[in-house]
Amino acid sequence: MDRVAKSYAPLIEERDGKTTVTLSEDHPGFGDRRYIEHRERIAAAALHARTGDPVPYIMYSEEDDATWQLVTTSLSKLHKQYAAAEYLAHFDALNLPSDRAPQLRDVSDTIGELTGFKMTPAAGIVGTTTFYGELANRTFNATQYIRHPSQPRFSPEPDMIHEIIGHGAHLANERWARMYELVGKAVLRLSNPKAVQLVSRVFWFSMECGVVEEKGELKVWGASLLTSAGEMAQFRNVDIRELDLAGMAKQGYEPDAYQPVLYKARSLGHFEDFLEDFLTMIDDDTPDAI
Ligand SMILES: [Fe+2]
Repeated sequence: MDRVAKSYAPLIEERDGKTTVTLSEDHPGFGDRRYIEHRERIAAAALHARTGDPVPYIMYSEEDDATWQLVTTSLSKLHKQYAAAEYLAHFDALNLPSDRAPQLRDVSDTIGELTGFKMTPAAGIVGTTTFYGELANRTFNATQYIRHPSQPRFSPEPDMIHEIIGHGAHLANERWARMYELVGKAVLRLSNPKAVQLVSRVFWFSMECGVVEEKGELKVWGASLLTSAGEMAQFRNVDIRELDLAGMAKQGYEPDAYQPVLYKARSLGHFEDFLEDFLTMIDDDTPDAI
């Protein structure tokens, strides 16, 4: 049977038993046949995984291990300076190796013991409703490939560094695991695509790109910022706004570029209250009411 992965970029297709990954011309891995074939093997493992199977074991290359080591060493230094204290506390609970790429199945097991969340393999970017809806069952769709070594400071797509270092630490913390679950429950009760898109935007400006005040300084909370060394080094220079649902609803965003506008909370409690209020009240009419 032919299958097409639940992704829009890069294009991942399976035809007659062969999985292909097509990278766009501006992707750092474009033209690197060895990298693309490795990505195809990893994508195939995700496409062939059945519900309930263990997360596929990936044979990471020495180059992958070196990228993991380089990026995580660099991020770790930036996190000490810029990451929110609560993020740092729960990141340590993941007990990740520094010298090699970890297996997603091991990370999933660790998170599972802490909060019951599990990670399930995704070949690429997962469709919006599927991705958010599965959070309701404490299931997080995560990629297993690693960014191209020529551009370690930023990945235009969510790679395993983003999933594990960014979202993994959120999901290891019951306070935020519960919030991810609320995101899923909200999406499951919506039928209006505009309302689902609104949840997606709020998730983007909080769990992906949220910043928070801590002892008079701005700190990074969102997974996307936490896994982009380039963006973390300059996030305080962009247009930082107060949490504002109507503003988020109107604000476009580019998931594959640095963010020109970020939203800050006064504290993580402020973020939590803002999200919980929004996620419990949103219905199909909300996009037209704000
Ligand atoms: Fe993400």
